[in-house]
Amino acid sequence: MTKKFGYEVSGDVSLLDGDYTDFSMDNAGYGAPWDRSGPSEADCLICHLKGYQWKERGAALRGRFFRYGPTVGAGWATLKLSQDELGNSKADEVTVDYTKKESADFENLHLHIVRKPPDENCWSCHAISDGKKRGQQWSPETDIHKAKGLDCVTCHPSDKEHNFAKGNTLQETVRDDLDNTMYSCEDCHYKGKNKKAPRYKHPFSPRHMKRLACETCHIPFQIASADLVYDNASTGSTIVYGTSRFLSNNPLDSQKSISGVDPNIWYPAIKEFKGKIIPVKSLIVIYWGDLDERTNVVRPIPLWRVREVTRPLLKDEKGEGLPEINSLGKIKTYLKALKEKDNLGHPVANHPVLIKGGFLYQFDKKGEVEKIKHEQAETLDFSLSHNVMSGPDVIGARGCGDCHSKKSSFFLRKVLVDPYDEKGKPVYVEAWERLGIDKEKLGRLLTEQ
Ligand code: HEC
Ligand code: HEC
Ligand code: HEC
Ligand code: HEC
Ligand code: HEC
Ligand code: HEC
Repeated sequence: MTKKFGYEVSGDVSLLDGDYTDFSMDNAGYGAPWDRSGPSEADCLICHLKGYQWKERGAALRGRFFRYGPTVGAGWATLKLSQDELGNSKADEVTVDYTKKESADFENLHLHIVRKPPDENCWSCHAISDGKKRGQQWSPETDIHKAKGLDCVTCHPSDKEHNFAKGNTLQETVRDDLDNTMYSCEDCHYKGKNKKAPRYKHPFSPRHMKRLACETCHIPFQIASADLVYDNASTGSTIVYGTSRFLSNNPLDSQKSISGVDPNIWYPAIKEFKGKIIPVKSLIVIYWGDLDERTNVVRPIPLWRVREVTRPLLKDEKGEGLPEINSLGKIKTYLKALKEKDNLGHPVANHPVLIKGGFLYQFDKKGEVEKIKHEQAETLDFSLSHNVMSGPDVIGARGCGDCHSKKSSFFLRKVLVDPYDEKGKPVYVEAWERLGIDKEKLGRLLTEQ
């Protein structure tokens, strides 16, 4: 609008520019001081330099010295460090110094640049999001491919345009044109696309191999905790519950864990995707929204607006215990508050709704709260493709009874759909229900050997 970049006009105008928004991570006090720091530019060395200084780069960005991110990452700077509120190190001062040689020698840079990015560089970026989404880890102990010396780029090679080969996983839709440009498990292990990959021999019928994805048996469980619930409704700030809060290392009983087994272990949910049964890490998101009745699409309400409404309400409810938006009574109060006009005369939402645990909650014609099934209230499922295992933990290694028995950790595994029902109790379904198997068939499947 002003024909200027936000940083050139920082002041009131740039606050309204989506790229330079004042609300970063929903924190109004954060801001982005582009005028002072400039942006962090494209950084070739982030992948191509061995020994890239990830921690230091992080500290520079946290101190909002965006411009110096790449320079600091290459090791050409001295930092004065302090700690932020969360205990992360943060730079208070950055002094650029191109004579530093510990990571990369500026004069002989070609000696430090690698053509094939080391795993550490890919993983340093992917660790946080893939950890939260999937509990993913990348170590020889947790992934058979890492243990056998495969790298990220062995499976995800890059073309000359830096388009990395990828598959077709749930949720990731930005470059669907690149779907299935990578080798699949079958390509390497059955069709001989990789000479070192052993060709598998399984005792399972062709029907099983057609119905069950490789990952379903070979990623039987995950060992590191992941984010399971984002509750954006109860307080207007995001409350995160991890897998360890609602799942346990016992797939059959989420409350009673098995002693002597790593307590962080959790079992993925199971779902149908393109005719195959795949393992997924489900994420449950709870939030207030505004329903567009014409399109049936719910637009989430920004948290700062919710906080304006819920803050006084929460005070009213003092002494009631946990801040959980569970009972219909509470939901009703909040829905009403969201319909009220703010001091500029606008209601927060025209058609306020709560999205939670498979359902949309709204006012019915009589002004009472009703709940109806809604697509946006379903869990968000993330594919699991790494942390592949071999050996006795693989499902089926101890026989068909791993799945076909009365104690099937496969068909009877518990999947969380709602962290609290109207009485505050977590709601689970079992895997067979999610697969759409009926009771009679389940009976047969649990006795079949
Ligand atoms: C996100 C990681 C990443 C970033 C960032 C990145 N590269 Fe690459 N680059 C790769 C990968 C992966 C390959 C393929 C390596 C292989 O398989 O040999 C590659 C290959 C290359 C090649 C060799 C291409 C060929 O066909 O010979 C060049 C040259 C290159 N990159 C330059 C750059 C430059 C210049 C930048 C910055 C503008 C950059 N890269 C940024 C990951 C990256
Ligand atoms: C600067 C951070 C960064 C680095 C370094 C990086 N990535 Fe990524 N990568 C991302 C982000 C962000 C996405 C977007 C999808 C997401 O959030 O997972 C992504 C997406 C991908 C995807 C596509 C996922 C899909 O299905 O759409 C692949 C494959 C991938 N990265 C592999 C790699 C590999 C291999 C390397 C190392 C050579 C690497 N990445 C290095 C940040 C990074
Ligand atoms: C043995 C092969 C293999 C290795 C090694 C490997 N991946 Fe993957 N990766 C896959 C497969 C298979 C998929 C799933 C593709 C699908 O389902 O269509 C995948 C999916 C992904 C995705 C898409 C997001 C998702 O849903 O999981 C990203 C991003 C990714 N890998 C990054 C990496 C990074 C970073 C590394 C190294 C730390 C790595 N991969 C190592 C095989 C591999
Ligand atoms: C790019 C080719 C490639 C892809 C894709 C790939 N693998 Fe592998 N896989 C290998 C290689 C190579 C080895 C190691 C062989 C060795 O050195 O013993 C291996 C090892 C394994 C092993 C251990 C075998 C043993 O000897 O115990 C299992 C299990 C396995 N892969 C399963 C999978 C699954 C499941 C997928 C898909 C998620 C997959 N692989 C994707 C190449 C691949
Ligand atoms: C129904 C469960 C199941 C499915 C589906 C499955 N596997 Fe396996 N797989 C096993 C079991 C069990 C073993 C033996 C594990 C052990 O005892 O070491 C095994 C072994 C392997 C091995 C080790 C080599 C061997 O033959 O001993 C490879 C490689 C492998 N599977 C790859 C795959 C690939 C690729 C797919 C998908 C096309 C797949 N598996 C699908 C259960 C399964
Ligand atoms: C990973 C779990 C798993 C393992 C291990 C497994 N199965 Fe299955 N089995 C299934 C699933 C899922 C179905 C349902 C497939 C469908 O209906 O599409 C099934 C279906 C069957 C059926 C058909 C039942 C019906 O009523 O339709 C038979 C028979 C069977 N399995 C036998 C076996 C035998 C024998 C073994 C061992 C060699 C075995 N299964 C191992 C998961 C497993």
